[in-house]
Amino acid sequence: MLNNFPLWPEQASTIAGHVDALYIFLLIVTGMMALLIFVCLIYFAARFRHRPGVPAEHIEGSTPLEITWSTIPLLVFLVIFAWGAVVYFKERTPPDDATEVYVVAKQWMWKLEHAEGQREINELHVPVGRDVKLIMTSQDVIHSFYIPAFRIKQDVLPGRYTVEWFRATKPGVYHLFCAEYCGTQHSGMVGDIVVLAPAQYEAWMNGGSTGPLSATGEKIFAELGCSTCHRTDTQGRGPNLQGVFGRPVQLEDGRTVTADENYVRECILDPGAKRVKGFQPIMPTFQGLVSEEQVNALVAYIKSISATKGEAGKTSASATVPGVQKNAQPNGSQVQ
Ligand code: CUA
Repeated sequence: MLNNFPLWPEQASTIAGHVDALYIFLLIVTGMMALLIFVCLIYFAARFRHRPGVPAEHIEGSTPLEITWSTIPLLVFLVIFAWGAVVYFKERTPPDDATEVYVVAKQWMWKLEHAEGQREINELHVPVGRDVKLIMTSQDVIHSFYIPAFRIKQDVLPGRYTVEWFRATKPGVYHLFCAEYCGTQHSGMVGDIVVLAPAQYEAWMNGGSTGPLSATGEKIFAELGCSTCHRTDTQGRGPNLQGVFGRPVQLEDGRTVTADENYVRECILDPGAKRVKGFQPIMPTFQGLVSEEQVNALVAYIKSISATKGEAGKTSASATVPGVQKNAQPNGSQVQ
């Protein structure tokens, strides 16, 4: 309904309608309040104006009136709060079976890598009608990943992952903006979200890949020597990482944390911070030794060795296609 109304960007995700409905409700409520205030203002200015010979009247407060004008706005605000919370949690909670894309922001570009291994810069190809989860981090300053047509925006921070998700509803090309001032070229930190019909997306996916991100991660895991301590039996000097992802982990200091993306990331870059119960503090930090992309690959690998059989099969099925990725970033020019 609003697609031809130029004040609104196109609605192209499942959440867009919900965000717009809440926004329109806010506009109506505030518009009605503004109207009411101005009508009262004009009426009272005329009704109680100074007239010669008429003494000014002293008016005491009215309790019923004050209760009324306190209660009604309170109820309206609570409706806005509850409605806003529902939309917020919907927008903040990625579905479990979402396709994953890793995003690395830097001054001034977006680097994207699909779990299946496709790499893109300032461009993201996604299928229509499928949930896509973005796992995002920054190499330098704070950026913000903003797709107006999807009504989603999330800050991208250095040193940790933030997450957002969407399900595109219409094929097309949509703007991607950086929405956090991040330096001189901030306004140029833009890109395209290309939403394709499923068949076209499959064709695009088959255009080539360097192999699934988890396989890249497995290679890095071996190259860095991680596998010498993190063995797949109980004899390793580090914890066995099979099946760890997504589960609670007991820490040496008594706390329990969930092994999510941020935990795995922290363990690689700052192993001492949340050491697993029963293990010695012998793991060196890999801060500065691995790029953000390599950390992402390692996270994807740790995740893959914990995935259920079905998920693992799904990820590797579309990823074994050889060939050259048309949007691939040459390995040599990887910017740190
Ligand atoms: Cu990145 Cu603004």
